[in-house]
Amino acid sequence: MTTLSIPVIIGSTRRGRYTPRLAKLIYAKLESHPGIDPVLIDLAHYDLPMMEERLSKLEEPPQRLVEFGRHIDAADAIVIATPEYNKGYPGVLKNAIDHLGSEFRRKPVGIVTHSVGAFGGIVVLQQLRIVMMNLGAVPIPAAITVPHIHETLDEDGRALDKNFDRRAERFVEELVWYAEALARQRGL
Ligand SMILES: Cc1cc2nc3c(=O)[nH]c(=O)nc-3n(C[C@H](O)[C@H](O)[C@H](O)COP(=O)(O)O)c2cc1C
Repeated sequence: MTTLSIPVIIGSTRRGRYTPRLAKLIYAKLESHPGIDPVLIDLAHYDLPMMEERLSKLEEPPQRLVEFGRHIDAADAIVIATPEYNKGYPGVLKNAIDHLGSEFRRKPVGIVTHSVGAFGGIVVLQQLRIVMMNLGAVPIPAAITVPHIHETLDEDGRALDKNFDRRAERFVEELVWYAEALARQRGL
């Protein structure tokens, strides 16, 4: 089987944000998985314009939007790491998603959420699954919700608790299972 591409989207751009810690953890687990080529997609780096029209309908799309779209289009699965903002996910993430469409179709999507509070973004998880299904993506049953992220992961995304580390590995194993299954269906 060919190498599978799995982008990990960092869904927050807030100054001093914690989301990269969670994205880095999942990226590291994917990187150590044979046959997987992960890439970190930092929405702060892409600095996408406010959505005026979907990428597929723009005559002269900005290069950074084209690049973002290419990563999702080429993906065999996608991870979205997001915090909970006012019981939703950040506007910057919705703006990025709404620029695309068919790029997500039939792709397994693993959602990982967090908060500094006790609930770890569980509300966001359900919301984002609905959004992904609307795009024809396949949100996988496995997920990670991280309460008290500032006490659970260090700045490099290392889990301070071995049990949590194992949870992240199981999540990645599940995602890779779906990525491989759907890739086979596409004849890869
Ligand atoms: C605008 C805003 C709204 C928030 N709303 C919630 C919330 O609804 N539930 C929650 O548990 N934490 C909430 N928090 C706290 C976040 O969980 C915490 O700030 C987290 O670190 C945000 O992710 P980030 O650091 O990547 O931006 C909110 C934070 C911000 C900035």
